[in-house]
Amino acid sequence: MASNPFTQSHNGQMPLRTTGIPLALIALAASLVRGQGAVWSQCGGIGWAGATTCVSGSVCTVLNDYYSQCVPGTATTTTPTSPPTTTGGSTTTSTATGPSSTCGTPAPGSGTLQLVGVNIAGFDFGCNSDGSCTASAAYPPLTQYYGKDGKGQMTHFVNDDGYNVFRLPVGWQFLTNNVLGGSINQTNMAEYDALVQTCLGTGAWCIIDIHNYARWDSGIIGQGGPTNEQFAATWGELAAMYKDTQKVIFGIMNEPHDIPDINLWAGSVQAAVTAIRNAGATTQMILLPGNNWTSAETFISNGSADALMKVVNPDGSVTNLIFDVHKYLDSDNSGTNAECVTNNIANAWEPLTQWLRCNGRQAFNTETGGGNTASCVTFMCQQIAYQAQNSDVILGYVGWAAGNFDVSYVLSELPAGSGSSWTDTTLVAQCMSPKAGAQKGSTS
Ligand SMILES: *[C@@H]1O[C@H](CO)[C@@H](O)[C@H](O)[C@H]1NC(C)=O
Ligand SMILES: *[C@@H]1O[C@H](CO)[C@@H](O)[C@H](O)[C@H]1NC(C)=O
Ligand SMILES: *[C@@H]1O[C@H](CO)[C@@H](O)[C@H](O)[C@H]1NC(C)=O
Repeated sequence: MASNPFTQSHNGQMPLRTTGIPLALIALAASLVRGQGAVWSQCGGIGWAGATTCVSGSVCTVLNDYYSQCVPGTATTTTPTSPPTTTGGSTTTSTATGPSSTCGTPAPGSGTLQLVGVNIAGFDFGCNSDGSCTASAAYPPLTQYYGKDGKGQMTHFVNDDGYNVFRLPVGWQFLTNNVLGGSINQTNMAEYDALVQTCLGTGAWCIIDIHNYARWDSGIIGQGGPTNEQFAATWGELAAMYKDTQKVIFGIMNEPHDIPDINLWAGSVQAAVTAIRNAGATTQMILLPGNNWTSAETFISNGSADALMKVVNPDGSVTNLIFDVHKYLDSDNSGTNAECVTNNIANAWEPLTQWLRCNGRQAFNTETGGGNTASCVTFMCQQIAYQAQNSDVILGYVGWAAGNFDVSYVLSELPAGSGSSWTDTTLVAQCMSPKAGAQKGSTS
């Protein structure tokens, strides 16, 4: 072990990457001074102390116990307007075909997210945010490789909590055993595949996540570092291995950041998508990551949305090309603090869901989390309830993290126990577990 995985931050990213107060919060504060909520602002819910009336032309609408919102119109609408169109991850996602007729109208989601899960970390240990990964530091979260009981964790999460997806981060260097441009090392791959097969064995969907921040040893893919061809070759090999496995989801890259040219990055993503499809994985979901640590908040404003919109399947369609977004709830959006300060709705989820709906696309929140604290229970439950109300465009969320972390890790979602007897952490038990009821706004 080159580094102690039990003490590393959730993904090695810098703890401080936000400055100032989000504009949306300033706008909200301004509306509070006037005593009436602006259109799309919060106007009620458990713990809400702000304005409870809305400006003319909008109506305060109860989305769930935790969140009421000023929605354009004059009629009162208190229930989701559409019935569920898909169920519990049993199908692939709806086909995106272009602007939907409901563009602009709020919350037509079913109230139930399709995919809800947990990151099972370990094979990414030793990876830093400059894309340097020490292959020998990868730490399989499986007891047969002397790691934690990832099999027991996932089995518990599925059987006792109702989770149905796991994200399995892995360093690129581990896959090729440190050879840039090399083919996948079968010895190392056998270990990673053991985790994939264990995940699949629970009946869940399984996300392969190359956890390299768009880089290899500081060099940015397609922009001075590895070539697009080298990146695409790794994905082509992986896709060939899992081309007949419908429940494998291809997560192109974890948290690109500080990418000089977002359009060139979209070209790198396109190269990977093309390689995956041409390897025979023609129908599986592929997750497309934007800049700024895949921030859900700046996905549109920083140009990721426009650039990644152009990524297509070989047939020109965008079927099952899903945008990958991350969001934490702490004061600096780093996922390193125990306390949460925001539900991210006004600054991130609301603008994102409207953009997705207007453009006929979907996103998947593959990293989110918080400490096991009362503030995180409050805000995380609100975030999940909002996502579920918008489940037509938000597929679901994956919590960070279980796997090989220590139980003392600030964002630990490790259940305590063994065998068939497990106890969840506070945040999982009260919000993040599908059984907690946060999606319907009725937490236990
Ligand atoms: C990155 O996203 C955070 C919020 O998630 C935002 O505060 C920050 O300004 C963004 N940085 C850039 C360069 O867009
Ligand atoms: C594969 O990786 C292992 C280390 O896990 C190494 O010993 C072996 O030489 C590599 N195989 C090839 C063909 O490079
Ligand atoms: C993204 O944010 C960075 C830093 O603020 C800025 O330099 C860059 O121009 C932005 N890109 C786009 C496409 O808005």
